[in-house]
Amino acid sequence: MRKIFVCGNWKMNTDRAAAVELAVGTGAVAEGIEKVEVGACPPFVYLLPVAEALAGSNVALGAQNMYFEAKGAFTGEISAGMLLDVGCRYAIVGHSERRHVIGESDELINRKLRAAIAAGLGPILCVGELLKEREAGETEAVVSRHVTEGLKGVSAEDAACVVVAYEPVWAIGTGKTATPDQAEDVHKFIRGVLAGLYDDKTAAAVRIQYGGSVKPENAYELMSRPDIDGALVGGASLKADSFGEIIREAVRVCG
Ligand code: PGA
Repeated sequence: MRKIFVCGNWKMNTDRAAAVELAVGTGAVAEGIEKVEVGACPPFVYLLPVAEALAGSNVALGAQNMYFEAKGAFTGEISAGMLLDVGCRYAIVGHSERRHVIGESDELINRKLRAAIAAGLGPILCVGELLKEREAGETEAVVSRHVTEGLKGVSAEDAACVVVAYEPVWAIGTGKTATPDQAEDVHKFIRGVLAGLYDDKTAAAVRIQYGGSVKPENAYELMSRPDIDGALVGGASLKADSFGEIIREAVRVCG
């Protein structure tokens, strides 16, 4: 059984005081919740105070990015070891804002993913098509490439521990959510790609989150689809109240 995973991606938001307040609020709304895994990914500079604010809670700490080298002359970069050192369990790799705003390639994302696994950090591999790619009928080709290139050189055993986040770029921060049918179609397709790369058992073990304007109003319908195993939540994770409602919807999905 795949455990539903609801993770907040705070992006480049909050200041230190707001990050700590949001962490305390997130810890409170996740209290006592066992059926659903909850995570939060604050900006790098607030990881430590957020880790302290989350101590004793059941919220897993994650980073929004990382670099693949362990240490050395890589000005401005942060290694997987450093993230583990401040209490991270997860790191997002290949978020669409890094692919399309910063210009990260599939090859770089793959190196980051492999470095995360080697260090013992759980990668959340983001994949998803642009609007023009969807309109050109290229969704499956793009998503297949992101998954295949992202997991290059990763064993079946390690792949089973990777979280994939399907985030159609046209739905991120736009208020436009993929319909549950549109999302489920792509999630099912991704599971098929995983089965082709590995085997059915590995494909069945990988959790595939949906991301893109997830909010309390649409969370239940999305997460109740068979291949949607949680959500990567941007905007709605910046308020503990709305994030808490999404967590409660996830619990409701578990029955
Ligand atoms: P959003 O962001 O929920 O604000 O659309 C999701 C994400 O980019 O992870």
